Amino acid sequence: MRKLPLIAGNWKMNKSSGETTSFIKELAPHITDCDVMVYLAVPFTYISLASRASEKTGIVIGAQNMNDAKKGAFTGEVAGIMLKDSGAEFVILGHSERRHIFGEDNDFINKKVIRAIKDDIKPILCVGETEEERDGKRTEDVLKEQLEKGLSKVSKEDVKNVVIAYEPVWAIGTGKTATPQVANSAHQFIRKTISSIFGATPAKNIYIIYGGSVKGENIEDLLKQKDIDGALVGGASLEVESFLEIIRKS
Ligand code: PGA
Repeated sequence: MRKLPLIAGNWKMNKSSGETTSFIKELAPHITDCDVMVYLAVPFTYISLASRASEKTGIVIGAQNMNDAKKGAFTGEVAGIMLKDSGAEFVILGHSERRHIFGEDNDFINKKVIRAIKDDIKPILCVGETEEERDGKRTEDVLKEQLEKGLSKVSKEDVKNVVIAYEPVWAIGTGKTATPQVANSAHQFIRKTISSIFGATPAKNIYIIYGGSVKGENIEDLLKQKDIDGALVGGASLEVESFLEIIRKS
């Protein structure tokens, strides 16, 4: 049976409080009859506002990052329990912008995944190869390492609550989408790796979503692929019209 598609918007460092509320108000009435799970990862400062605006709409609000510690002297950082307290239900972890701009490595990302699970926030763990790694035929090695390290010490029971986002770095914000076949073969490999770590049932049930220049024009072909369960959408999640087109076509 086909899973209900998961479409997650990632606003990155964009929008104001007023734009956050008006976006949700405008989007909400249109998604009531869509068989899609709609997630929105907003900036930290708008989580409370967005979660209040999203009450009873079906839109699930989340964050784009968190710290791995429970609390303490970590100036400028935000803890999972704070996100939860503000209304976040999920968190994007290990996004390539965190890995490449802020130097986050697999071990640090793993600590955040573990903390998010403890704090009862669904982690969306992002994995993906750079263009150089793909050209060097290292895609599978990179994905395997990101998954094995990123999910280290996660139990079979807890992995059920994790979403994997395959985001080839060369396709993020570039307009270059992986072809549905290229994306699906990476998703297949991810599922196989999850199966070898956790077994066949978690591998079958886990959501593996695709990210990288997803738009209304390519979502249908991507979702036709057997191993693609949804999408993580950056640029096209910033306008109601383009985000809604993706949701409607899912
Ligand atoms: P994009 O971003 O859709 O703008 O390529 C995706 C992401 O970074 O999650």
